[in-house]
Amino acid sequence: MTLALVAGARPNFMKIAPLARAAAARGGLRTRIIHTGQHYDDAMSRVFFDDLDLPRPDVNLGVGSASHGVQTGRVMAALEPVLASDRPDWVLVVGDVNSTLAAALVAVKLGIPTAHVEAGLRSGDRRMPEEINRLATDAVADLLLAPSRDAVDNLRREGHPGERIALVGNVMVDSLLHVLPRLDPEGVCRGLGLAEEFVLVTLHRPSNVDDPARLAGLLRALAALAAEVSVVFPVHPRTRPLLDAALPAGERPAGLRLLPPCSYREFIALESRARLVITDSGGVQEETTVLGVPCLTVRDTTERPVTVREGTNRLVGGDPRRLLAAARLALGRPRPPAHRPEGWDGRASERILDRLACTAADAAPRRAGRLPAGAHG
Ligand code: UD1
Ligand code: UDP
Repeated sequence: MTLALVAGARPNFMKIAPLARAAAARGGLRTRIIHTGQHYDDAMSRVFFDDLDLPRPDVNLGVGSASHGVQTGRVMAALEPVLASDRPDWVLVVGDVNSTLAAALVAVKLGIPTAHVEAGLRSGDRRMPEEINRLATDAVADLLLAPSRDAVDNLRREGHPGERIALVGNVMVDSLLHVLPRLDPEGVCRGLGLAEEFVLVTLHRPSNVDDPARLAGLLRALAALAAEVSVVFPVHPRTRPLLDAALPAGERPAGLRLLPPCSYREFIALESRARLVITDSGGVQEETTVLGVPCLTVRDTTERPVTVREGTNRLVGGDPRRLLAAARLALGRPRPPAHRPEGWDGRASERILDRLACTAADAAPRRAGRLPAGAHG
């Protein structure tokens, strides 16, 4: 059996790495790694192949940055001939980025069985580009591999047939648990000259960073926090060019450390030692729950409610005063316990491979419209 693993943007690499590793360990499974090139800076792409022991891509489509329509279209146009010639037994798309949707559309139209890893997550906020990508990818994929029970419930509520849905757990946690014993958190913190207590920040959602007034307010809150505790902020390339207008260099306190994006191992090392994480990232909400690090999410909604219900995550919206108050409160409380929600156990990739093997024979008739009676119930 041949699996095509499609990845394009930073959070995709952590999701395909454990699948590639599990497939290699199993034998009889061939993987083809297809990089769309949505992210292309070394710090947003190449470092993850090194850090995650992920083989180099077999193909790089090199699509680069563009508007949503152009980027999605470029992935589709470049991927179609590759999949048409390779004809893998399965195409696996992960997450919710433009590359995910583009690849799913191409693969299903070529009649290649297509599985969505991280299916069923819903923020309920259709202004998020990722929410549209999630809904549309799940609408076309043959197999919906859900990371959590709430995701399964969402898919059932939307009417997806039960036999297309599988609760497999969280592949992001497979990667996290794989690297945790291989880290050097003391070395990373020492290298950055960090004190015992620090706050780790990531911000890249268009809703937070593309609006200059909103970004300025958030950065001022971080600057105020940095007068009390060190704040380390590896800056996403989307956010980087917007910083100077939002908070001029002369107004940044010494305690606010703006860094280039970190490698995965550096970032997880920092995350594991942080006293508090402030973020709008999807993956970081999950990692902090498993690490038992308090997390404040600068959003009104989350597609990962299990991190709030069972984990360390709290939604604080985009109001800078609320963020600052919540940060001070969290810093004054003891560290919460680490928690692994159901299926966040490092074995999600194994369960996915098991499921692909037993679903392979099943997918073709469904796409051809030859479903058993009642299967859409
Ligand atoms: C994308 C995903 C988002 C995900 C994020 C992870 C979509 C719609 N969005 O957002 O869901 O959370 O990746 O990081 O797919 N850029 C560089 N170098 C790079 C990549 C990007 O400089 O290697 C800059 C470019 O100016 C580009 C901008 O970042 O225009 C945004 O990149 P893009 O891939 O369009 O969206 P992200 O904000 O990265
Ligand atoms: N991450 C990283 N370096 C950084 C910031 C984040 O390696 O400087 C990792 C983080 O540990 C998580 C993933 O990137 O595994 C999350 O990606 P991102 O926040 O870009 O995307 P999202 O999850 O929001 O889609």
